[in-house]
Amino acid sequence: MSTAHSSLLLRGVGTLVTCDPTLGEGPLGLVRDAAVLCRGERIVYAGPQAGLPTVEGAEPLTLDLDGHMVMPGLVDCHTHLVFAGDRLDDFQARLEGDSYAAIASRGGGILSTVRATRAASDELLVDLCEGRAERLVAHGVTTVEVKSGYGLDPRQELRLLEVIRTASQRCIAELVPTFLGAHTLPVEARRSDEARRAYVDSVVDDMLPAVADRGLARFCDVFVEEGAFTLEEGRRVLMAARELGLGLKVHADQMTQTGAAGLAAELGAVSAEHLEYASDEDLQAMARAGTVAVLLPGAAFFLRDQPPAAARFRAAGVRMAIATDFNPGSSPSAHLPLMAQLAVLQGGVTLDEAILGITAHAAQALDLHGDRGTVGAGMRADLALFRARDPRELLYEIGANHCTGVVKSGRYHRVDAARTSRIRVGARG
Ligand code: NIG
Ligand code: FE
Repeated sequence: MSTAHSSLLLRGVGTLVTCDPTLGEGPLGLVRDAAVLCRGERIVYAGPQAGLPTVEGAEPLTLDLDGHMVMPGLVDCHTHLVFAGDRLDDFQARLEGDSYAAIASRGGGILSTVRATRAASDELLVDLCEGRAERLVAHGVTTVEVKSGYGLDPRQELRLLEVIRTASQRCIAELVPTFLGAHTLPVEARRSDEARRAYVDSVVDDMLPAVADRGLARFCDVFVEEGAFTLEEGRRVLMAARELGLGLKVHADQMTQTGAAGLAAELGAVSAEHLEYASDEDLQAMARAGTVAVLLPGAAFFLRDQPPAAARFRAAGVRMAIATDFNPGSSPSAHLPLMAQLAVLQGGVTLDEAILGITAHAAQALDLHGDRGTVGAGMRADLALFRARDPRELLYEIGANHCTGVVKSGRYHRVDAARTSRIRVGARG
């Protein structure tokens, strides 16, 4: 069910988790017995129900939450939703002792997904991307960053960004597009140093200007890693992107220490992701630059690698967000609260940090913190509704889904938790 209405009132909210400590109790800004009033796409009141102002004009659409919990719509700030095929063979090979890097170097890994994605029609890719975004929505997610990166030539990379744009128009969540033409070197670029240089040239000289010109991406990301791009290649791509007005993100220090976290800080990137092997100096540089650390515990879990250690990020004073990294090779999961739970149980993230990591801090990793990620007057009316009384419940029962609905830009959509793979988008005005 989806409803378009100029005003929406949520009353009977047992626990409102504003994620803004100035708006309520404790680090999560909790308000008990609360109400939230939305007008159009914005929140006009969020606070104690007793303080709700009289609503002028037409009666708002009113939902009585019967004591349930309301949070900001969750933000998944790092995903790779646009791909075809699967990586079941890689999965089995890894379980039998192969490494992710070894599989990649013999043409499996990302390259096998590139082959399947290039061969898929636009319609199929839109459908797959939309379906995956719907599964995220079923967990309370209303904003999703989505990267290209399984096309790896100018025509295919632009096509994948167009797919993200089309899927975003069709699904409840807003998809925030990131250009990841420098995800790995395509087969064609592995034949010689010259071919390699030509690929980086084409990212910088062909793809980036076209992406910027057509407004197809808000961010540019690079995978700096052994077997992918060097620090110097990453610097070149990111500097060109910055010049064109794109925000920067970096897949940094995931499997080896490359210094990419330091590069992210130096170039003023909004975020650096993974970071399992980042040095303390680079984490401190990120803290000084205001670059958010995006923890992707699903990837470390699925690759059976070391989990990102919160104590190091905390000691460096860097802000932590948590994301799914939804992708076929290293993190096939749309369960954002489960990722937060893994960050707590395996990475030592506190319960409060985990909740902020999928709301306020995740919004900051997309440079959207003035607009969403907290619940307060003036913010976008993006909310997640949970059958729970305490935010810790989201991080407690393994694999549970307590979400009953979301509000996206002021519109309510019921989530059928029993059918998380498919939810229906109703009439859109
Ligand atoms: O974030 N690190 C690079 N990219 C993805 C993996 C993509 C894949 O294996 O298909 C990641 O883990
Ligand atoms: Fe990733």
